[in-house]
Amino acid sequence: MVKKRPNKVAVLLGGLSSEREVSFQTGKQIAQALVDKGYEVKKIDPASELISGLLEFQPDVVFIALHGEFGEDGTIQGLLELLGFPYTGSGVLASALAMNKVMTKKILLSEGIETAPFQVFTRQEAERKGLAQIASEIIAYLNVPVVVKPACQGSTIGVSVARNQKELISAVAFALQYDDTSFAEKFVEGVEVTASILGTEDPQVLPLIEIISETGFYDYKAKYSAGLSRHIIPARISSHVAQKVEAIALRTYQALNCRHFARIDFMISNDEIPYVLEVNTIPGMTATSLFPDAAQAAGISFSELISRLVEEAWSLDQKEQKSKFVGKGN
Ligand SMILES: Nc1ncnc2c1ncn2[C@@H]1O[C@H](COP(=O)(O)OP(=O)(O)O)[C@@H](O)[C@H]1O
Ligand SMILES: [Mg+2]
Repeated sequence: MVKKRPNKVAVLLGGLSSEREVSFQTGKQIAQALVDKGYEVKKIDPASELISGLLEFQPDVVFIALHGEFGEDGTIQGLLELLGFPYTGSGVLASALAMNKVMTKKILLSEGIETAPFQVFTRQEAERKGLAQIASEIIAYLNVPVVVKPACQGSTIGVSVARNQKELISAVAFALQYDDTSFAEKFVEGVEVTASILGTEDPQVLPLIEIISETGFYDYKAKYSAGLSRHIIPARISSHVAQKVEAIALRTYQALNCRHFARIDFMISNDEIPYVLEVNTIPGMTATSLFPDAAQAAGISFSELISRLVEEAWSLDQKEQKSKFVGKGN
């Protein structure tokens, strides 16, 4: 019998990445919102059970509330494709691309979308040439200040600002602790905003949020401690710059083939050029998170937002009528 609406939702939370704790916060609130909306919900932590839990529960939709590696990077998405369970958020390709900031920047460049100039370096190179040589090459190409980041991390883990050669050497070493491929990016002085996008066929940009960090740099602590960062909605930028940001956000979302929702981070330089920093395919959904704030400003409550994502995952799957070869009954 074909069900008319989704009823059973598995919420994947926790997981194996360095963002495990944030994922628990996100996942618990999502699960609660779904319970409030009358869904039958099972929380599954892939660190302890995954395939067995899914096969036993047979969800109509899987809500992926994981961040980072083995959650936001396409691997879980690939598994769910194989198992034949529809899931919220972007598919395998978009998830994998967006997880890697260097690959994201390459796609943006090919689409003519502004992203700050950058230089990639690897652990192998660092071992061969030494950290000082890498730092000198970065300075020769980009000068300082730069922001140094691992290619694949989130929540500002491994990210630092370097204002001179000495800081740059430490920043390079620090980033490489988290990813063998890392990069330095020109520091953009200006206003930080984030664009939350909702929808797939006709995606909508929710009100832009300006982010002000009380610690001067939007770091892990500021992101997840209430009071240390401030969200200003709508962002205090001219309507002409806001329109530019919205248009670029949509182009970025489509260039990466995102679906259901994503949050795109920007730095707008003092000369009003919006630079895309990164695409978050599973943005945080905690009490202090940006995406739910943007939805609220657009008149969409948290529980409406969550159930809308579930419905969307379900209806897309119904349209696609994929043939499944594992999971459901074989
Ligand atoms: N090029 C840049 N210029 C200025 N600030 C930056 C730059 N890149 C990152 N930042 C700051 O660092 C934070 C984290 O960087 P981001 O690329 O969004 O990575 P993530 O959020 O995945 O850790 C941003 O929110 C912003 O405050
Ligand atoms: Mg970010």
